[in-house]
Amino acid sequence: MASSITYLTTTIDGARGLKPYKRKLTRRLSDLRGYFLNKGLVEEILSKGENPIIYEVYEIPQEPTDGLLSIGCTVIYPGKVGDEYYFTKGHFHTKESASEVYIGVEGEGIILMQNKEGETAYSRIEPNVIVYIPPGVAHRTINVGSGKLVFLAVYPSDAGHDYGSIEKLGFAKLVVERDGKPEVVDNPNYVKAS
Ligand SMILES: [Fe+2]
Repeated sequence: MASSITYLTTTIDGARGLKPYKRKLTRRLSDLRGYFLNKGLVEEILSKGENPIIYEVYEIPQEPTDGLLSIGCTVIYPGKVGDEYYFTKGHFHTKESASEVYIGVEGEGIILMQNKEGETAYSRIEPNVIVYIPPGVAHRTINVGSGKLVFLAVYPSDAGHDYGSIEKLGFAKLVVERDGKPEVVDNPNYVKAS
């Protein structure tokens, strides 16, 4: 008799994400218009007909139901706009109680975290590093290495993604290259939510 246990198994396939996966999302520079500090430079790159991939997400999403977990593997390409490293858009979870776990697979990165009050924190992410992102905290990941940054994410399937708040307000911090090394600096354009 067939079992009614619907488990799933997948494999981390390095910079090719997951094998197998159900859904793939590709974000190019044009999808992150307005996110980088040097907006003029972004337009200049796009006007030359260049539209590099910034990151890809390979997902196995579950139905948005309390108690279920989704799996995602993000691959952020190496690169910079000016001196600002490539990053993910970043989001709050719509469901305020939803937390998330990141596990580093390849490359070197920084996870920027920020709460609704604008307080910030950051963690390194690299192979074998596990980061727990608590509820109510927006998170963005930045690739500060010379190769692709790959990490696995496990999160409640009903967490929901609020990209709008970050798109509107931005993060209070930026990660830029200074003297050949990554540095977390204040975002001069950040306006604290009132
Ligand atoms: Fe998340």
